Amino acid sequence: MIALKDVVYCRLGTRDLAGAEWFAVTILGLEVSERRKGATYFKSDNRAHTLCYVEGDPADQVTAFEIGSPAELQRAAATLESLGHRVHYGTSQECDARHVREFIRFDDPTGNGIEFVLRPAVSAQRYHGTRDAGITGFSHVGLCTTDAERDERFWTQVCNARVSDRIGDAPLMRLGTIHHSIALFPFHKAGIQHINHQVASTDDIQRSLAHVRDNQVNITFGPGRHPTSSAQFLYFTGPEGMTFEYSTGVCEIHDEPLWRDRQFHFEPRGFCHWGAKPNIAAFRD
Ligand SMILES: [Fe+2]
Repeated sequence: MIALKDVVYCRLGTRDLAGAEWFAVTILGLEVSERRKGATYFKSDNRAHTLCYVEGDPADQVTAFEIGSPAELQRAAATLESLGHRVHYGTSQECDARHVREFIRFDDPTGNGIEFVLRPAVSAQRYHGTRDAGITGFSHVGLCTTDAERDERFWTQVCNARVSDRIGDAPLMRLGTIHHSIALFPFHKAGIQHINHQVASTDDIQRSLAHVRDNQVNITFGPGRHPTSSAQFLYFTGPEGMTFEYSTGVCEIHDEPLWRDRQFHFEPRGFCHWGAKPNIAAFRD
């Protein structure tokens, strides 16, 4: 079993690095932590970075997860190779570009770019965005799946994710105590379906609603409240069509052996119990 500790960063290709930076800073409220040739890094919490935009193909999207030790990383690589995944071992230059000691890269069964990383850097400096978005940190990703049952098996049987709830066939899975760190949404192709940052309060959701609206950003869902995690949320569209989410109040699961995953309807009431309706392709039949 590959033991993942947490989701640590996303790397997104972009044709317009300056435009992506404008959105990440001005709209999303992230902080530029570093600029390198062809790449800009963003902080959202105490980690060195949690998002990196890289000049290139917007279809190049990677989600990274932390693994506990070099031996576990080696075992993970062997397990993945035995299952037929092509595993790339990060070069020292690639490790430096990710602020990690070691990493491996492979595609999940749908074809999503995944990195398992060792010792991602934490920053001594606190995150402070230029706008007061109330962000408390990068929290989870939604990944597209072309076969939810197969991919749920991958994340829960090859890796250590546990299903907290399902919306239709879409599993919301935890790695620690937070209700979900990964969610899989059926779609016809691979890709990151959404990127979530937690904010401190309902006020932050409402303030951001006004802010994104004033900036003509496309709001795709919310404000609302998820019946699964009980989090209040707002979804909107970023560069290259990426969906970003703010949420607050995600529940934690501490009664691990007693928790039973629940089944919710794959329709608007399964996603929101305030009555908001998603305008997001992967959230609709
Ligand atoms: Fe989410």
